[in-house]
Amino acid sequence: MSSARHLAELSAASPAVLPSLLLCDFGNLEREVRQLEEAGVKGLHLDVMDGHFVPNMTYGLPIVAALRGLTDLPLDVHLMISNPQQYVSQFVDAGSDILTIHAEAVDDPCPVLEQIRTAGAGAGLAINPPTSVESIEAALPLCDMVLVMSVMPGFGGQSFDEVALEKLKALRARLPDHVLLEVDGGVNEETIAACGAAGAQLMVVGSAIFRQEDYTASVAKLTQLAGDKG
Ligand code: DX5
Ligand code: ZN
Repeated sequence: MSSARHLAELSAASPAVLPSLLLCDFGNLEREVRQLEEAGVKGLHLDVMDGHFVPNMTYGLPIVAALRGLTDLPLDVHLMISNPQQYVSQFVDAGSDILTIHAEAVDDPCPVLEQIRTAGAGAGLAINPPTSVESIEAALPLCDMVLVMSVMPGFGGQSFDEVALEKLKALRARLPDHVLLEVDGGVNEETIAACGAAGAQLMVVGSAIFRQEDYTASVAKLTQLAGDKG
């Protein structure tokens, strides 16, 4: 299925919970993916870290390609790396449907977002808690998705930073409806409803799924709360 179809699928499914593959059992990746599929998730969020842009290292192209071979779910690849422009075509060729770069990792995100779209994936732009919405204004027309970080990137299990809520509201007011809004970091049963109410459509969840016994129950509860606009 094309990335455009996957983007449309995610948009239609929103608000959708996307499990972040950082705290999962990498020793049993296929089993984890099957359990997540059975739990009804609408996509997978892949946390790629290089140990330079963020103080942690995770995985790269081989794992993205392996996951592409394991599932038809949309792959939402979060590049927490420096110089992402050097790897765009390889990550798209490995099977990324959405490829998200960090505004803080490049001088100008516009050419890299164009590069992602030309390569055939959805172009995502992420901003960390200290980064303003105003600072990415010029890049918004080139975004298929904006990822508002509610933690500093690098680790799962951190606490939700409420600064993300104001940014989500501001972005929802500015962005055309077809542009997806995603939130990532500290999203759990206590924080997800506020994210949905603020306009987030894709909610990335790590520890609130992978530190629970029953993925199906966690995903169902989180999805219900995500749509609970209060
Ligand atoms: C952090 C990652 C997040 C993180 C989410 O750098 O981008 O996707 O894994 O994990 P939780 O939900 O536990 O904060
Ligand atoms: Zn992430």
